[in-house]
Amino acid sequence: MTDSKKVIEILTQISEQIQMEKEFLTELDNVIGDGDHGINMARGFKEVEKKLPDLTGKDIGTILKAVGMTLVSTVGGASGPLYGTAFLKASAAVGNKTEIDGGDFIAALEAAIGGIEMRGKAHEGEKTMLDALIPALNAMKKSYAENKDFKSALAQGVAAAEQGVEYTKTIIATKGRASYLGERSIGHQDPGATSSCLMLKVISRMI
Ligand SMILES: Nc1ncnc2c1ncn2[C@@H]1O[C@H](COP(=O)(O)OP(=O)(O)OP(=O)(O)O)[C@@H](O)[C@H]1O
Ligand SMILES: [Mg+2]
Repeated sequence: MTDSKKVIEILTQISEQIQMEKEFLTELDNVIGDGDHGINMARGFKEVEKKLPDLTGKDIGTILKAVGMTLVSTVGGASGPLYGTAFLKASAAVGNKTEIDGGDFIAALEAAIGGIEMRGKAHEGEKTMLDALIPALNAMKKSYAENKDFKSALAQGVAAAEQGVEYTKTIIATKGRASYLGERSIGHQDPGATSSCLMLKVISRMI
């Protein structure tokens, strides 16, 4: 089980990791986009970090809702509204629980993905964050169905997300600015898939 306190610790670590990988994410976006993904994410999660102290003791849905609203309002570009929607949908899925297990996490991830698909009108295979998140969800579901524990399921999820990031190198972008490059987007990994994978890795390390 993961409680509200742990969720706040995980969000703090996600922010730290994003600050550390800001340059890398921006470099990736420089090649196929407009070079702001790291900057956008770092700015958004710095604002999230500022909100976390006031969220101590709140239920997990309330915490995730605050994250989503902060990302929507502080991150420019496509990724702010997309990640913001993801956290808001995850928040609604978790509701007022103060402890969650692997099944709750899977339900929250599924809701988050649904939110991104709806907001971004995107599907798997379009070289976006979904190409890390959907394989991760499927791997976690499979692992959970085999009665593996939360931590093992997350490890499988991360492995699938890493493969998903690699897969984005082989496909053409059909969403966002990267789509302007057409075939020239092949060979380059997607920044959003990379940041999604980074978040899952932090969660997996801390559970
Ligand atoms: N319609 C979409 N659906 C899902 N993910 C998307 C979509 N459009 C862009 N993305 C993701 O957002 C990432 C780019 O985020 P960034 O913070 O750089 O915003 P941006 O510069 O406004 O994006 P873009 O130029 O791609 O619209 C991409 O790498 C991709 O993973
Ligand atoms: Mg960009």
